[in-house]
Amino acid sequence: MVTFKLPLSVLLLFLQLNIFLCSAEVLYIPVTKDTTTLQYITEVGQRTPLVPIKLLVHLGGRSLLVDCDKGYKSSTYKSAVCNSTQCSFAKSHACGDCIFKSQLQPGCNNNTCYIWGENPLINSFHDRAEIAEDVLTIGSTPGVHVTWSRFIFTCLLDQDMMRLLAKGVTGIAGFGRESPISLPNQLALDPRFTRKFGLCLSSSTRSRGVIFIGSGPYNIYNPKKIDISKDLVYTKLIANKRGGFVASEEYYIQVSSIRVAGKDVPLNKTLLSINKKNGVGGTRISTATPFTILHTSIYDAFKTAFIKALPKNVTLVDPPIKQFGVCFSSKNIKSTNTGPDLPVIDVVLHKPSAFWRIYGTNSVVQVNKDVMCLAFVGQDQTWEPSIVIGGHQMEENLLVFDLPGKNIGFSSSLKLQQTSCSKYDNTTLG
Ligand SMILES: *[C@@H]1O[C@H](CO)[C@@H](O)[C@H](O)[C@H]1NC(C)=O
Ligand SMILES: *[C@@H]1O[C@H](CO)[C@@H](O)[C@H](O)[C@H]1NC(C)=O
Ligand SMILES: *[C@@H]1O[C@H](CO)[C@@H](O)[C@H](O)[C@H]1NC(C)=O
Ligand SMILES: *[C@@H]1O[C@H](CO)[C@@H](O)[C@H](O)[C@H]1NC(C)=O
Ligand SMILES: *[C@@H]1O[C@H](CO)[C@@H](O)[C@H](O)[C@H]1NC(C)=O
Repeated sequence: MVTFKLPLSVLLLFLQLNIFLCSAEVLYIPVTKDTTTLQYITEVGQRTPLVPIKLLVHLGGRSLLVDCDKGYKSSTYKSAVCNSTQCSFAKSHACGDCIFKSQLQPGCNNNTCYIWGENPLINSFHDRAEIAEDVLTIGSTPGVHVTWSRFIFTCLLDQDMMRLLAKGVTGIAGFGRESPISLPNQLALDPRFTRKFGLCLSSSTRSRGVIFIGSGPYNIYNPKKIDISKDLVYTKLIANKRGGFVASEEYYIQVSSIRVAGKDVPLNKTLLSINKKNGVGGTRISTATPFTILHTSIYDAFKTAFIKALPKNVTLVDPPIKQFGVCFSSKNIKSTNTGPDLPVIDVVLHKPSAFWRIYGTNSVVQVNKDVMCLAFVGQDQTWEPSIVIGGHQMEENLLVFDLPGKNIGFSSSLKLQQTSCSKYDNTTLG
């Protein structure tokens, strides 16, 4: 049970006010795409004095996790004392003393509680992520930087857990659905925001995309101001209760079929549902996956359908990059405002009329001057979700995650509206 006492009473007050106040603001959090790793990175300010910290954006993460092994210095760091309201609020599973360092330090304090820390890039977990609070500045409402004086995060002393993070990245920003201390859930304790966020990833490594926190409007310029959160296709967010504690924070949707150029791809439909016994299968959305992963049997059928739907004058070539299974000459392919003119891919959601359309700009990557590849990866997903929707397919699309409504909305390519994720109001984001 979560119970509130001091010192969370201030937050509780916010929570109560939230019921009566109109939550009208939107917090803009800029997101960069890293050139070498293709990871999506956001930058926040933390500690006293304030230092900039780069974090990997992880939809299924339960907290803001910081690598404290690199010399965490702050006069306002406070670890959560065992059995405190912070511990129960963060759903801590354990409590203890610092036994693996000779000196107490952020990440290793006595009489402190922990939760699991995770790194999705290496699929690893650590049971001693110390719960703590410190000053955090994150994003802005256009014109105003937003600061929390006591933001709850987790502090981990294990270099090994930080493997594969892009250069300069020292933590992970978790946007998990259930954890009360994930970014969307904790930020919504502020009466200005709600437990709803929009993910708009930029396809460029030079211009930043954005995560909107709050109900909207999500304004983008084209150059005229438009609210891109209108006219989305919505489907239910599905909880994966059988997938263990990892899956519980992740975002799943029901994909009922895939269409290529309007034709259903023949798929084993069993794979498209989450197995009720072991939580395997189904479709997860992941910002920690650069290209959508398909179970090999789905990939093979999909690949065949895509090749069949290509114009006859397009020639297949040997993949220059091993990761991709289908590559072809781009010579006879026209370019349109939604990228190369290729068969459209429809990810069909809970009913045939609800689908997310993927155009050339999101279905392929140009790997060299003359060759493009289908930007999907076939993989043995026997113990994993059958489909993991990855970053490349989501770029320059808006995805809205409505947590109280348990819905997720898809805009399709913003190029259809002559705009992109980097054209948001970025005044003061410097
Ligand atoms: C703290 O909580 C644990 C369970 O999480 C319980 O076993 C323990 O008795 C509590 N200690 C105090 C001092 O209340
Ligand atoms: C912290 O806990 C350890 C192990 O229980 C103990 O040896 C040490 O003296 C404690 N340190 C402080 C400063 O209380
Ligand atoms: C479909 O997939 C399920 C789950 O992996 C498997 O048990 C079943 O044998 C497959 N059916 C066919 C016809 O391949
Ligand atoms: C290739 O084929 C497509 C579709 O059949 C056609 O629209 C296009 O003009 C052709 N391109 C060339 C260069 O022949
Ligand atoms: C702000 O947006 C404009 C146009 O959308 C862009 O040219 C500029 O580089 C952006 N500035 C920052 C700091 O991101």
